[in-house]
Amino acid sequence: MTDTKQDKVLIFDTTLRDGEQSPGATMTHEEKLEIAAALDEMGVDIIEAGFPIASEGDFNAVSEIAKNSKNSVICGLSRANFKDIDRNWEAVKHAAQPRIHTFIGTSPLHRAIPNLTMDEMADRIHETVTHARNLCDNVQWSPMDATRTEHDYLCRVVEIAIKAGATTINIPDTVGYTAPRESADLIRMLLERVPGADEVVFSTHCHNDLGMATANSLAAVEAGARQIECTINGLGERAGNTALEEVVMALRVRNDIMPYATGIDTTKIMKLSRRVATVSGFPVQYNKAIVGKNAFLHESGIHQDGVLKNVETFEIMKPADIGLNEDNIVLGKHSGRAALKSKLSALGIDLGQNQLNDIFVRFKDLADRKKEVYEDDLWTLIRDAEDETPDRLELKDLKVICGTGGQSAEMVMIVDGEEKRAETTGDGPVDACFNAVKELFPHKAKLELYQVHAVTQGTDAQATVSVRLNEDGRIVTGQSADTDTVVASVKAYIHALNRLLVRRGKVGEGADNREISYKDVS
Ligand code: KIV
Ligand code: ZN
Repeated sequence: MTDTKQDKVLIFDTTLRDGEQSPGATMTHEEKLEIAAALDEMGVDIIEAGFPIASEGDFNAVSEIAKNSKNSVICGLSRANFKDIDRNWEAVKHAAQPRIHTFIGTSPLHRAIPNLTMDEMADRIHETVTHARNLCDNVQWSPMDATRTEHDYLCRVVEIAIKAGATTINIPDTVGYTAPRESADLIRMLLERVPGADEVVFSTHCHNDLGMATANSLAAVEAGARQIECTINGLGERAGNTALEEVVMALRVRNDIMPYATGIDTTKIMKLSRRVATVSGFPVQYNKAIVGKNAFLHESGIHQDGVLKNVETFEIMKPADIGLNEDNIVLGKHSGRAALKSKLSALGIDLGQNQLNDIFVRFKDLADRKKEVYEDDLWTLIRDAEDETPDRLELKDLKVICGTGGQSAEMVMIVDGEEKRAETTGDGPVDACFNAVKELFPHKAKLELYQVHAVTQGTDAQATVSVRLNEDGRIVTGQSADTDTVVASVKAYIHALNRLLVRRGKVGEGADNREISYKDVS
């Protein structure tokens, strides 16, 4: 079946098996089901759903994923023994299209562990693949550590597996040791030397220990492999696996030199990447290809100006192609007027040339001191530039009682020049105080983040508190520092509210005029 003229490359996703093997990346049963459903919907050809013999939980997840599968082939992993393979089959057999995957380490280092001679291992491969094939028509066999296995022996065992009924031969670079040319040569060598090689699909499974997994996978495809094993975000043992998003987008963007198609709906990539990052607890590195936070961001003035005029100047794919519809401009010290103007305009602020020049000077000054200038900072710049708007809200006095008997706060706050007083309780002193702020200045903003950092050490440490509020998508942050953490917290909260008020007034739309109108701010 393998034909280098054939243009389809099968995508085999092993996020739920090899990806989940990353230390600490365990997912719950429900999360695995959710990810599998998303992979199926995205067009992944084969989902490796788990290692059924590994635990009751893995078995249950694989069987349920098999039952729920719609389009994808559902595969489970098993070692080279009947018990593993039987358990695997019990789980995957519920799928409309099941696959048994079985493997054994064939390199000298791996043969030494079960202490099998070359002949004994060859016999084991013959028996186990035959057994798997008697259960299921779709059998994948992998010689683990293939890239460090003697070529003659590799050809011998691959031939045995094919004769025993394997339909896919996967060639793993288990320790991420190979390099692109060698990866291609290995597949080419197997296709040329192994009798029956043209009857099966050759697959590539690369780990990223030297950062070459994606390149090695693509090189294998160019040599004739027609299945790529990969994971979302490149999740996996040690440095991870080939990243699904990288191979899929590389094949799409460079179809001129790699004319192979995948059935993946790329617009689902970003959502799945974020979800996998959340459920696995493995955040995506900022500069990761395709799905990293910075992958479509431009900070330097020259790049920003180019992108604003013609996005293709510095982007080889569209953010929308991976389902990303966010603004791609990050303001920083290299940004120019064009980027600032565009960002302000996206915030609904259209300034005249003189005002823009004024804001630009302030912006450059801030950007010199700060790495990134956020939306929130722009509002502050605007506010500072317009006039020295006095804060609408100000903390005048605060008394907090805390201890085993409960927590309460007595607060005096100036709201628009008027002194107001409240007495409140809460779950802890900070909660009691925040309740007092809400009573004195009712608002609908949700507290999204509350963070305390000790700036100095010791019990007299200066605490810096950050508060982030979200009001109908308008996000503002407030900061304050004090040796008293509760006072710092209240001031940070009030700081955020003052910013929110400026912001409400500026945009106008959605402003809650029952509380304060823009006229009052300006
Ligand atoms: O890396 C590897 O060799 C594997 C096999 C089990 C296919 O994950
Ligand atoms: Zn692996």
